[in-house]
Amino acid sequence: MKKIFIDDGSTGIKLAWKNESGEVQTALTNNTFKKELSPPTGEAEVYNYRCSGEDFSFSPMSTSIVMTNNVQWQYSAANAVAIQHALQKSGLKPQRIHALVTLPLSEFYDHNNQPNLANIERKKASVAQSVEFLSGNAFIIEAVSVSPESIPAAVAKVSELTDLDALLVVDLGGTTLDVSLIQGETASLVKVEGNANIGASSVTREVDQALRTVNGQSSWRIADAIVKNRHNDGFIANRLFNEENVPAIKESLDRSITSLCNATTDFLTRFGGFTHVAVVGGGASLVADSVKSALKISDKRFFVSDDPQFDLVRGMLYISGE
Ligand SMILES: Nc1ncnc2c1ncn2[C@@H]1O[C@H](COP(=O)(O)OP(=O)(O)OP(=O)(O)O)[C@@H](O)[C@H]1O
Ligand SMILES: [Mg+2]
Repeated sequence: MKKIFIDDGSTGIKLAWKNESGEVQTALTNNTFKKELSPPTGEAEVYNYRCSGEDFSFSPMSTSIVMTNNVQWQYSAANAVAIQHALQKSGLKPQRIHALVTLPLSEFYDHNNQPNLANIERKKASVAQSVEFLSGNAFIIEAVSVSPESIPAAVAKVSELTDLDALLVVDLGGTTLDVSLIQGETASLVKVEGNANIGASSVTREVDQALRTVNGQSSWRIADAIVKNRHNDGFIANRLFNEENVPAIKESLDRSITSLCNATTDFLTRFGGFTHVAVVGGGASLVADSVKSALKISDKRFFVSDDPQFDLVRGMLYISGE
């Protein structure tokens, strides 16, 4: 049975698996969906799903994103549907699979830092619930394994450290900032804290609003693309009805990125005792420079990968020894 590693974040699902030649493949889908079925348009493909009596549709043209509270999302029908949708879009043939998913640290561990077995079982049941794909065959999730977020993202780095070192892993996702302090060598967890009010989607939201002001309309997908291409003025200009509004969009980017950086570095003042820092998650590139200078960490003790949104899911695959 094929093993598929799944980082089911609240704004996007990241997948990793190995193809027949043993090469690592990855895929990303955004959780842009509505809680109703979409009529076929004849143009864009429509993805309608049904799970636990609820209807959902993902469509490339969705103008809204259902924002889910991080914790509730983890065990919801919407989560099971978002995973099914990511599988459908991966290019893999619908089949029986072993899904390896994650839970936020605060859900995975109890107050005594022991695995919270009730939450882990709840997550397994949620991911395994059957999802109907209304225009084709669905993937069947036959086995589910659950691992804690964050640690896999940095595991390759931790193994290079000594027991006198400690790595601070700063995971900035779309809706949550999760920070963990990990002891070098043994990779044991020293301290974990998250803040569900700090996330990279605050930048997308602000750009979405600025687009509505200057264009009279917007979509989450376009706003997100502008955030990702924020250094490319030509790209921004092409998304505007009037190119003279480029500075207004750039101003909204600067303002929201600055406030995201300030919120992130403020939160990090709760942590001490680290010798190395890794910034991971889709929002990493937005805050990495601020984090590095606020924490006064030198280049050789500071890690940001080329593709930080995939650090966690790639780390899960790496640890599994697949
Ligand atoms: N190249 C990029 N530059 C800036 N922001 C980016 C980039 N790539 C992704 N993002 C942002 O990262 C966020 C998604 O990151 P990620 O996939 O780590 O979040 P998530 O796991 O879904 O959320 P969470 O961990 O909070 O549940 C989105 O807000 C997206 O706009
Ligand atoms: Mg995440």
